[in-house]
Amino acid sequence: MKAIRTGAAPSTLDALKLVDIDDAAAPAAGEITVSLKASSLNFHDFAVVAGIIPAAEGRIPMSDGAGEVVAVGEGVTDYAVGDAVVSTFFPDWADGAPPATAFTRVPGDGIDGYARETITAPASWFTRVPKGYGHAEAATLTCAGLTAWRALFVDNSIKPGDTVLVQGSGGVSIFALQFAKAAGATVIATSSSGEKLERLRDLGADHLINYKETEAWGAKALEITAGRGVDCVVEIGGAGTLDQSMIATRVGGHVALIGVLAGFAGPVQTGLLMAKNLRVQGLTVGSRAQQLDMIAGIEANGIRPVISDHFPLADLADAFRHQAANRHFGKIAVDIG
Ligand SMILES: NC(=O)c1ccc[n+]([C@@H]2O[C@H](COP(=O)([O-])OP(=O)(O)OC[C@H]3O[C@@H](n4cnc5c(N)ncnc54)[C@H](OP(=O)(O)O)[C@@H]3O)[C@@H](O)[C@H]2O)c1
Repeated sequence: MKAIRTGAAPSTLDALKLVDIDDAAAPAAGEITVSLKASSLNFHDFAVVAGIIPAAEGRIPMSDGAGEVVAVGEGVTDYAVGDAVVSTFFPDWADGAPPATAFTRVPGDGIDGYARETITAPASWFTRVPKGYGHAEAATLTCAGLTAWRALFVDNSIKPGDTVLVQGSGGVSIFALQFAKAAGATVIATSSSGEKLERLRDLGADHLINYKETEAWGAKALEITAGRGVDCVVEIGGAGTLDQSMIATRVGGHVALIGVLAGFAGPVQTGLLMAKNLRVQGLTVGSRAQQLDMIAGIEANGIRPVISDHFPLADLADAFRHQAANRHFGKIAVDIG
């Protein structure tokens, strides 16, 4: 079968290679074989293939994988041949608190991922997909979808009347916008692009801020909320945006610290954090049980992912160049097979 492998560590996009590898083995007890049909890009995958995260030479990248079950091992009762499935981000995190091992066994990082045509793995590494979803749609859920879900409904309980601020128009942020609107919340969306802001409005964003033109966007969010502040910020910038996020958040509110696009480390206004009684909480994706809750939530609300671009597996490096150039809106899908 075909697969993509990274080059010598630290990897570069130019070093990504399409290779022939052995076909997936027949499933042992408790395993399934999945004919992979799609993956999707996350910043985390970019960090692996671009050498920001040091991964082993020859790693098969991509944390997200969706496809069709083609063989079922002994004792597997959850799936039958022909079922559509989607991967989980943490194969070892079924439920409960996050595992201490964190990223050590994340597909596409600590172990081989889904940039390949078939895989045989424990059935517990997968879940069902939302009814009516295509494979590319399903492949957007593993990382971006579940991260947004957890920020709003696991680590918080966003409800009608709340206000949520989402940053930019990437995968996590657009899911957060869609989930927050489905919960009846008001959404303030930011972007660096006027054109993307209009697309965010079309998706239901109630208030728009261009974060390049309005550098003090935290104060603008306060003004929009009549001085109260938002209930939750889905923080994908990290050090470079945290101050504005804290300014934007209401007393006692929640900043879901998800990303580092604006810096891995930097000074924090600890006085503001304390004075506003804020909860700034780091999070990494979610558990298999949370993924199943998200899928039920998606079905109940008829939510479809926003995919701006499709690339074939062989052109994975070009897909990442497209992402790095910030030409996408929502998710970039990879079609396999
Ligand atoms: N902790 C976790 O579990 C977890 C899970 C998923 C992702 N993440 C992290 O979350 C971040 C976003 O991931 P993603 O996959 O959604 O990325 P993505 O799809 O590549 O999204 C990138 C978008 O972020 C926006 N952006 C970039 N810099 C920004 C800034 N300074 N302020 C506001 N928006 C900014 C841009 O939107 P505009 O073009 O509209 O300006 C850009 O298009 C990454 O740091 C990623 O590592 C973490």
